[in-house]
Amino acid sequence: MLARFAFYMAEVVQIRSEAKINLFLNVLGRRPDGYHEIETVMVPVSLSDVLEVALTGSGIEFRTDSTALAEYVNHSPDWWHGLEHTGSMPGQAVSDQCPPHRNLVLRAAAEFFKQTGLRCGVRIRLWKSIPVAGGLGGGSSNAAKILLALNQLTGNPLDYARLLALAARLGSDVPFFLGEGPALATGRGEIITPLPECRVLEGRPVLLLNPGFGVSTPWAYRALAATGDAARGAPAPVARFIELLQQGDLRAAAPFFYNALEKPVLRKYPILEIYQEFLRARGAAVTLMSGSGPTTFAVFEHSDTAERVRAELHDRFGPNLWTAVCEALTGRALAAKYRRAA
Ligand code: C5P
Repeated sequence: MLARFAFYMAEVVQIRSEAKINLFLNVLGRRPDGYHEIETVMVPVSLSDVLEVALTGSGIEFRTDSTALAEYVNHSPDWWHGLEHTGSMPGQAVSDQCPPHRNLVLRAAAEFFKQTGLRCGVRIRLWKSIPVAGGLGGGSSNAAKILLALNQLTGNPLDYARLLALAARLGSDVPFFLGEGPALATGRGEIITPLPECRVLEGRPVLLLNPGFGVSTPWAYRALAATGDAARGAPAPVARFIELLQQGDLRAAAPFFYNALEKPVLRKYPILEIYQEFLRARGAAVTLMSGSGPTTFAVFEHSDTAERVRAELHDRFGPNLWTAVCEALTGRALAAKYRRAA
């Protein structure tokens, strides 16, 4: 899974860190701990960031091409203590969007070193392609891949159960990215049941569209609760949806794609509804917002249609819209093939 090569005394791993889309997201109710009980079906897609991770003697160096994330360098052997506080740290860059103590890459590395008690350092580079705060799980994916990479580089000190517990502490979506294919996620999203097949998406292009602004996940859940209906736990038929996914008939499955968070987010940002109408009018069998949005995906029957509609989107809404055509990684074999092609 990880491509390795020697680098002086240390080793370097380069990893693809893929995005996900939620094909189904039902919110069952609010929990005493403030989270929401959900049932969601997620599938990784071939849109991915690239991470490079190398062990060093001590401290941390985090570099990225993303302007949405602050770079961070700290030579202290106990660099992670500072990340637990919001105060300034030596060498800390400034970013409005995501300062170091909120950056899931840094938090994952910090938690790993804290858990294992290992006394070494790390150098991380991140090439970002997944929109930040877009509902595609980019940060969660990065965190999971950092855990896997550090565990591998240091001789697997954490077994899978400890990695899973650590991932769940970092964020509700992080455990999903320790796996490789489609899954049902329950609880607050951290209880993962892998799904064997997702035939509905096999060989079918997925067009992603992001309007260029972010949506805060806590806000989306709060706003849903304020609408007073969908968060009450109306049980949507997830079992039926999973059956239809496995049968492979896109038109039969299409009406069952569902995201409870669409309601508050589309109400606040009606442009997302306009994008969906535009996509459906041009042959998309399914259009749905992913996670807490605002990224919207559309499933088409054929790649040339998806590419044509992508071009039409830019003609109609301008060049600043972010779009990509990718494929769903519907099983282990496909995920492995995709990683080999990296
Ligand atoms: O787990 P994560 O840190 O990604 O969650 C971010 C926020 O999203 C939580 O603090 C909570 O407000 C909201 N959330 C929720 N229910 C979930 C997942 C997230 O209310 N199942």
